[in-house]
Amino acid sequence: MNGINKPSNEDHFSVNGNDLQIFQGTLIHATNDHPLLILEDHVIGVGQGKIAFVAPSSELSNLIDRHGFQQNEVRQLQKGNFLMPGFVDTHIHAPQYVYAGTGTDLPLLSWLTRYTIPVESKFKDLKFASLAYNDVVETTLKVGTTTACYYATIHKHASLRLAEIAANLGQRAFVGKVNMDTFSPDYYLETTQESIRDTEWFIEQVRELNCPRVNPIITPRFALSCTSPLMTQLGVLADKYDVHIQTHINESLDEIASVKEKFPGYGNYARVYDAHGLMNNKTVLAHCIHMEDDEVSLIKERGAGVAHCPCSNFTIMSGVMNLRERLQQGLKVGLATDVSGGYSSSMLVAMRQAVIASRVHSISLTDGKEHIPVEYHEAFRLATLGGSEVLGLSDKIGNFEVGKEFDALIIDPHAANSPFHVYDTLYTDTIEDIVQKFLYLGDDRNIAEVYVGGERVKPRT
Ligand code: GUN
Ligand code: FE
Repeated sequence: MNGINKPSNEDHFSVNGNDLQIFQGTLIHATNDHPLLILEDHVIGVGQGKIAFVAPSSELSNLIDRHGFQQNEVRQLQKGNFLMPGFVDTHIHAPQYVYAGTGTDLPLLSWLTRYTIPVESKFKDLKFASLAYNDVVETTLKVGTTTACYYATIHKHASLRLAEIAANLGQRAFVGKVNMDTFSPDYYLETTQESIRDTEWFIEQVRELNCPRVNPIITPRFALSCTSPLMTQLGVLADKYDVHIQTHINESLDEIASVKEKFPGYGNYARVYDAHGLMNNKTVLAHCIHMEDDEVSLIKERGAGVAHCPCSNFTIMSGVMNLRERLQQGLKVGLATDVSGGYSSSMLVAMRQAVIASRVHSISLTDGKEHIPVEYHEAFRLATLGGSEVLGLSDKIGNFEVGKEFDALIIDPHAANSPFHVYDTLYTDTIEDIVQKFLYLGDDRNIAEVYVGGERVKPRT
């Protein structure tokens, strides 16, 4: 078999023609310079799961010469369709999918007690876990999430099942067995020792799946549900196995007050995690709504990323994160559904609500400070390239740069039963209008095909 050579220059690297899949049509993606770049009439070649070239169609004959494929191997996208990178959901609770869309009437701490803990405890039952996790991975793939960063539950076998299902269904994923040795009823609690032992077992088992797209992530639920010894030992495990870490921080004011009471002497919430070895450039921090200046500097210094969860923040009424401010502070930011704090598992909804949250700041919360609201272009960047940066995957995914893996969606704005209409022949919809309509109004009906690492996962073959 002909292997992929290292990129010989920025735009091309060679792959034997027989191994190539080539698409021709409109591509959209984010780059460092443009939040939403629209490339009309381009060709993109994919070999062994990776992007081999991206070029204007005018270069097609050169590409044919260089890569040795035939003109009839080029697949023309259907008129009006376009390719975009897959969505990266930087924070989603897989078990909470079963009650997503319900239990939307309480704030965080009472919501956890009333709805979350009872449901998550049911994942001790592997049969139930298998059914639910299959639904989660299938549904998120269907709505275009090619990479998901999952919380599972405290149960090691069920958590491993989620990793197996993601691997089998072809989704790129981080999967975390949740750690909690306090602040929960006995029926959904671990001892410190069990928590550490099971986490180590889980990390090793996920690695034994030998699926490079699915990785373990250390998951202390949040500071309230972990003792200090547990967090210290999780920090040691993170180092030992060189794995990512995810947790929640600064989500609701009640939560923050309780953390300060439980951990006096640290100064703030971020310092609690930092003192336990949990804050580094592989840490994903969900929420970051109510932040002290010292926390912003610390998170930036450590290189941790922010998972912004606007749908959750509105639904369980935690607050409105100032996205523009986080971006101006130079933090890495991605978007997330935070199912089921967020009722929707669609990153399209996360994008829309990120725009609304930012507008809420410009309308009423900035107290006269200048606030340029985040527009849909930037939300698109955060839902794709931004998420890949937060998860430390921007060298592999996030946009259509040569050498990256082909995680992509084919969008069909004219799909049967599309929730919106396009008027591009008798009226004036431009390509920008059509992309914007999809981002604001589209849903899974418009997501015709989904690819992860060049493999088609929707529809399955
Ligand atoms: N903080 C601790 N646990 C959770 C959870 O399950 N969801 C959210 N949104 N916040 C949390
Ligand atoms: Fe969460």
